[in-house]
Amino acid sequence: MLSTFDLTKFIPEELLKNAYETWQQTKAGFSLAHKNFSTEIKKVFFPNNAIQYKEITPETFQNLQGRFQTIIEEDWRDAQRGIYPVNVLFEADWQEFLQSYVKIWLDYPQTWQRMQQQKPQDFREDVNLESYPQYYRRNFHYQTDGYLSDYSANIYDLQVDILFNGIADAMRRRILKPMVERLKNVDKNSDLKILDCACGTGRTLQFLRATFPDISLYGVDLSSAYLRKANQLLSQLPHELPQLIKGNIENLPYQDNYFQGISNVFVFHELPNPIRQKVIEESFRVLQSGGVFVICDSIQLSDSPELEAMMANFPLAFHEPFYHDYIKDDIELRLNNAGFKDIEVKTYGFSKYWIATK
Ligand SMILES: C[S@@+](CC[C@H](N)C(=O)[O-])C[C@H]1O[C@@H](n2cnc3c(N)ncnc32)[C@H](O)[C@@H]1O
Repeated sequence: MLSTFDLTKFIPEELLKNAYETWQQTKAGFSLAHKNFSTEIKKVFFPNNAIQYKEITPETFQNLQGRFQTIIEEDWRDAQRGIYPVNVLFEADWQEFLQSYVKIWLDYPQTWQRMQQQKPQDFREDVNLESYPQYYRRNFHYQTDGYLSDYSANIYDLQVDILFNGIADAMRRRILKPMVERLKNVDKNSDLKILDCACGTGRTLQFLRATFPDISLYGVDLSSAYLRKANQLLSQLPHELPQLIKGNIENLPYQDNYFQGISNVFVFHELPNPIRQKVIEESFRVLQSGGVFVICDSIQLSDSPELEAMMANFPLAFHEPFYHDYIKDDIELRLNNAGFKDIEVKTYGFSKYWIATK
């Protein structure tokens, strides 16, 4: 069960802020310790690592520390401003955490073997891959079953949070402020509808629900297993249940001009170059005039050249075959070409954000 820290209303602001910073530092410490320890264990079983990683310098660590501080401060500030409730910052499900953590360790031997053998298209025979696009039929992150099993859906959130040193949700929440600000211009009587494209396990929808309690939310994803997991999370929340549907974000199963807001989090780097354009155009089609589109994905070389080594290492360790192309892609140009206007670009933590209006 999702446990919500309801006491936040009664605790002095400064104390609450310290508690939030401490919570984030604890998650970062845990993530770093886990990554170091699991790397050492991997070396015991696979001492001959063929992958040549680029060196991460002390300056890079300092840069990362600065980014960490900034996003934590922004996250806190937005909660203080009332963009979303403060208790969202403290939500934690300990039972879920423990179960996922054990499962991550149980999955490592297979993941490491797949990585060692450079075998990123390794599925059980009973998984029917035919209905999925070619680019999707792979073990992103060398993960067992790719996105196509409940096991994978059960460990995904924690894996991502560990990868991002505990700020995955803080990065997802950066889409909320621009959404709120730009939707101020949209006709409030029009029964607001927001779609989260490639919603995965539903975490962005969870934060959208906290920010917009009364509007209609929608989520679309290609993975039934991830949608099941999303349903499990979202059905615990008060207010209307978001409508989840299995579908391809290249061909959204909605009519033209249907939504006032669309978000797209952590998926562009997993799409081949021409598909990114298709997804932008398709989002444009289903967005109402004046509606807002927010993309959140990895930083790129153009905005963070100082983190080039990190960007080079990531696809080597995690099987991300489209990442190398993504970090050089001009998404702003793509948005312009599709017809979007008022395009703003920001970076927070390890993420980059494109905010555009139709
Ligand atoms: C890295 S996960 C991101 C999930 C989620 N947005 C988040 O914040 O964690 C990528 C997700 O994109 C989905 N996906 C990838 N390609 C897709 C496509 N063409 N159509 C729909 N979903 C897709 C996957 O199933 C997976 O759930």
